Amino acid sequence: MGRLNIIFGLFFVCLKLLSIRADDSCDESKCPGPIAYYESLGCLPVRKKPEDCCAYKYNCTEVESRSLDKCYVNNHSYDLGEKLKDEDANPCDIGCTCLMSYTDIAAFNCAIVDCFQGPAKPGCYRKNSPSNCCPGEEVCPENPEDRATCVVDGKAYKDGEYFNDPSDPDKNCICQPGYEGKNVEPFCVTPKHPYCQPDFRHRDDVVNNCAPVYYSSQSPQTSCSVFSRCQNNNDTIITNQDKSSQQDNDVICKFGTLIMHHGDKLNQATDYSSVCVKCVCEVGPVPTCQRLPDDKCDVTNHPPFNSFD
Ligand SMILES: *[C@@H]1O[C@H](CO)[C@@H](O)[C@H](O)[C@H]1NC(C)=O
Ligand SMILES: *[C@@H]1O[C@H](CO)[C@@H](O)[C@H](O)[C@H]1NC(C)=O
Ligand SMILES: *[C@@H]1O[C@H](CO)[C@@H](O)[C@H](O)[C@H]1NC(C)=O
Repeated sequence: MGRLNIIFGLFFVCLKLLSIRADDSCDESKCPGPIAYYESLGCLPVRKKPEDCCAYKYNCTEVESRSLDKCYVNNHSYDLGEKLKDEDANPCDIGCTCLMSYTDIAAFNCAIVDCFQGPAKPGCYRKNSPSNCCPGEEVCPENPEDRATCVVDGKAYKDGEYFNDPSDPDKNCICQPGYEGKNVEPFCVTPKHPYCQPDFRHRDDVVNNCAPVYYSSQSPQTSCSVFSRCQNNNDTIITNQDKSSQQDNDVICKFGTLIMHHGDKLNQATDYSSVCVKCVCEVGPVPTCQRLPDDKCDVTNHPPFNSFD
């Protein structure tokens, strides 16, 4: 009897776990596509069924309809010559103005901030704050115990160290004296606009349908892309031959002037930004591009590139 009870109990636990998974365990970081890119751009997820966890494509029509002679951040548009308001500025957005680029595409142009102050001396550390762009003053406590600590989710951080708010991954938090477990200012701040907002400074890449590229160690779901791949004359589409995986007929990806269908790939090594970079149309309208790991592809092995291409 006792044994049957245990088995029944285990079965029940399994059922319960399964039902939790089905209910609210939607972990978007496991969904395909450059999701962080879409979200920081302001594209809307489109799901086949409302209860689906993952979007199968994104709707970027609002982004695409934006005027080329205005700049955009959050829900605000800025005219040429207008300065970025504090309410829309992150700590490192210093002296930003909406300007026309030489390709006639407006974007924010900001002061170049050079924070480098060198590493702290042994036994010392820098006071940091999520509201400041650069690391703060160096302090050298007489006793290491004098350095404040913060306990977050059972883990200890020291004064000046960065930590994540488990309940809000968008927040930037830094341990500072006086922290009492509340992830509020001045310990944590929510960025005024996404840090990797692709059209804030490098809008040409967005307007020209370049694709964000991620390192092999990065997650396209949660990371900022490192660089973009933009179309050149040697780029071609490798059509997906597997018709069975072409169910998503209405998923297309735009790459420059090329239109890819679901499952289509781009060729590689047509310029430096596509060496060892695998691009596939998964969740349109932007192809998912990721650098292959070094043990799978040698980045030094490519045809000579004409730097004027
Ligand atoms: C895309 O989103 C816009 C709102 O930004 C909406 O008006 C439009 O109908 C949507 N398009 C599709 C195809 O869902
Ligand atoms: C942008 O504005 C719309 C309507 O005006 C609103 O629903 C939306 O929440 C706003 N988004 C942000 C990020 O402020
Ligand atoms: C690009 O294509 C041209 C011919 O169309 C060829 O001569 C050149 O080698 C190609 N460049 C690369 C990097 O593949």
